Amino acid sequence: VKRITTHILQAMKQRGEKIAMLTAYDYSMATILDDAGLDVLLVGDSASNVMAGHETTLPITLDQMIYHAQSVVRGASRALVVVDLPFGSYQGNSKEALNSAIRIMKESGAHAVKMEGGTEIVESVQRIITAGIPVMGHLGLTPQSIYKFGTYTVRAKDEAEADKLKIDAKALQEAGCFAVVLEKIPAALGKEVSEFLDIPTIGIGAGPDCDGQVLVVNDMIGLTKGFKPRFLRQYVNLYDGILNAAQSYIKDVKSNDFPNEKEQY
Ligand code: KIV
Ligand code: NA
Repeated sequence: VKRITTHILQAMKQRGEKIAMLTAYDYSMATILDDAGLDVLLVGDSASNVMAGHETTLPITLDQMIYHAQSVVRGASRALVVVDLPFGSYQGNSKEALNSAIRIMKESGAHAVKMEGGTEIVESVQRIITAGIPVMGHLGLTPQSIYKFGTYTVRAKDEAEADKLKIDAKALQEAGCFAVVLEKIPAALGKEVSEFLDIPTIGIGAGPDCDGQVLVVNDMIGLTKGFKPRFLRQYVNLYDGILNAAQSYIKDVKSNDFPNEKEQY
């Protein structure tokens, strides 16, 4: 199979074909999602929440992101694999940012990195791209800055923040980003940014006019019980599916039903 490239994503935007992206953190899930035909698999730092159980994305380390990325790369033969640079691995200076991006590419075999922020990170973005590493931007709700925002509510509802986001989006495109994630912003702003940018936008809670959509896979398959923001569409309830399976297993073990005659040597 032919690998999806950043150039293919650009061509998809040009012909109006939507880009389908989901997160993945491990080999088993990556094989299923790749087989399903996802265009992009994002090794998100949301692994900090859904894999490690942290309240925020801040604690996950570069080493831990590389471990997740290695597992996803082994399972993905067609999808473009993008890896989040975690909090603290790029904000210091552009040299640190480049070193972190190089470690991800070298040690995991992933195809691109993603970073949160606008004009503040442009120098780092340029330096990474100059080294030949494709960069995806991330604007709007940027969870690595949660303590600055204070809440996970919709971003850029007022004009000042919307104007800043538009400047940031242009700056990221200018710097050479191949795409930009727009998280939790008004649909009208998502549409406007998607129209004026030449590079694809990938929305999460950013309306139907983005060039692609992304969800955290654990939310989308119903593993994260009780997490139901408006932007989320849950396609299957695996929490209850796994719970029921585990309860049936317990019952079968306790009642000596498992293993039966055919399930032994
Ligand atoms: O870490 C993540 O899952 C993300 C997506 C929500 C875009 O950054
Ligand atoms: Na992320």
